[in-house]
Amino acid sequence: MIPKSFVQYLLNRLDIVDVVERYVPLKKAGANFVACCPFHNEKSPSFTVSQSKQFYHCFGCGAHGTAIGFVMEHAGMGFVEAVEYLAKSVGVTVPQEASNTSQHKVAPDLYELMQSATRYYREQLKKNQRAIDYLKGRGLSGEVAARFGIGYSPDDWQNLKAAVPNYQDAGLVETGLVIEGEGGKRYDRFRDRIMFPIVNVRGQVIGFGGRILDKGEPKYLNSPETPLFEKGHELYGLYQAQKAIRARQQVIVVEGYMDVVALAQHGVEYAVATLGTATTPYHVQKLLRLSEQVVFCFDGDKAGQKAAWRALENALPQLVDGKRIGFLFLPEEHDPDTYIREFGTEAFEQLLDDSLPLSGYLLRELTAQVDLRTPEGRNILLQKAQPLLTAITAPTTALLLRKEVAALAGVTQAELEALYSIKPVAAPPRAAPPKAKRSTPSGLRTLLRCLVMRPVLARELPGDWQGEGNEGAAIAALADWLRESADETTSAAMIQHFQGTSYEVVFASAQGEVIQWGDDFDVQAEFVGVLRRMRLDVIESESAELLAKGLLSMSESERSRLAQLKDERRQLKEQVG
Ligand code: GTP
Ligand code: MN
Repeated sequence: MIPKSFVQYLLNRLDIVDVVERYVPLKKAGANFVACCPFHNEKSPSFTVSQSKQFYHCFGCGAHGTAIGFVMEHAGMGFVEAVEYLAKSVGVTVPQEASNTSQHKVAPDLYELMQSATRYYREQLKKNQRAIDYLKGRGLSGEVAARFGIGYSPDDWQNLKAAVPNYQDAGLVETGLVIEGEGGKRYDRFRDRIMFPIVNVRGQVIGFGGRILDKGEPKYLNSPETPLFEKGHELYGLYQAQKAIRARQQVIVVEGYMDVVALAQHGVEYAVATLGTATTPYHVQKLLRLSEQVVFCFDGDKAGQKAAWRALENALPQLVDGKRIGFLFLPEEHDPDTYIREFGTEAFEQLLDDSLPLSGYLLRELTAQVDLRTPEGRNILLQKAQPLLTAITAPTTALLLRKEVAALAGVTQAELEALYSIKPVAAPPRAAPPKAKRSTPSGLRTLLRCLVMRPVLARELPGDWQGEGNEGAAIAALADWLRESADETTSAAMIQHFQGTSYEVVFASAQGEVIQWGDDFDVQAEFVGVLRRMRLDVIESESAELLAKGLLSMSESERSRLAQLKDERRQLKEQVG
């Protein structure tokens, strides 16, 4: 667990402009910096970064967040990963908060051990003609082998003695490089294998895949799960492919190390592989953050077909309207490696262009072996479709697929939804709120803007403060949070805190509104002013209610209340000066 106070401290140490500029060149525009948005395609820049407020906002696609959020979105890192990366970049260490769940403590020297092993295996490859010939035989150039850091582990039991200072180092077992047998005897996990380093998005080696050169079992030996390496989260080749994926807004997911490497050898540099596991929802989410289109391209055999279907199932909850997921089915005897070597890049890219969209694949599989001419067949279709359709949360995709399946089954969309007991989806409401309506923001809106500019002002709200609707709830949540922490909270810390909560959207839109406000803007005065106006509104309406009764029929207490309100109104009006 990363302590909350550290997140705040880190955000204060970072400059979002520096962080964004590591990925996207920024141009100064007034008080802010702008660029064409890296999260959607556009010709004129609507991506805006505020240096004084330390957050970014895209007026085109609504992307928003802090330096941490930016790195998560842009590099596809998880929260912890992003915090560690950013901390390292400004030379601070992330403190660990004791937690009773599995402690994720990664000593930096584990990374160093992996690095030493990688270097060693690469040197050994240069010395071993048999390994070189193997890779040449599979069509790889030295250049591509270097790009992926490919190496060779010699045919000995304790190779790594030559690679690290101390073969008894506990870290060697922890990283899975060395196995400790009975009686404490140690030996290398990888012997006489081609070594594929598995690299995280920060460029650190976290595991290896080792392929046998000749025939033998197992064909591939992978690092076990370790504190550095979690299989369901990592994708082989992502580090090397990131740039190409971004440029092309497309990523191909394949099954094997050799597929990634062979595709790169043929100029298809935007491929990644799952690591001997099924495609997880986490993988899909990571890839959809990076690009507009994800294409699964598994082997043409039975296992490949199964892997494709698993990928579809795990992709459904992650679908994002407007982003495309495709499936490419190779001829049965091929995998991406053999296909591109036999038919070339152009033929492969043609297949990519013709890949089957997820919806087409889904409907094809659902209707295969079902006789839709009979009620029994249509019944089966509805049964098979239920878990799949209910898993989709992207509104437009859900709507279109429900309509399709309903039509195939001869029922209406409403009937299908009733049958599945799921909430009806209608066409999603248009996102962009009409500009005109904004001309005079409500008091709550103005208050919210002030608080986004300077969150600590929320401490000045009356203890029993209440507001209506989403805005009121968000403000109350902010005030609650600030009461708990004594720190000097910045806009960025606040945005980070509410990221992923139900208040995120409300705060984000206010953030978009204030990003253009200058720093000389008197937030304090605006805040006091709007509170006064809102209080006056309450007084007016309560007074009006009392007066409606008529003075004569008022009770004693109502009459004194009216006088009290009148007094308060007079005081408030005097303050305006
Ligand atoms: P090549 O024969 O080198 O072309 O391999 P490939 O890339 O075509 O691999 P294959 O389709 O046989 O397997 C795909 C992926 O599954 C590999 O990249 C490994 O991650 C994993 N895998 C394959 N064989 C084994 C094995 O024997 N053990 C384990 N643990 N994983 C394997
Ligand atoms: Mn293969």
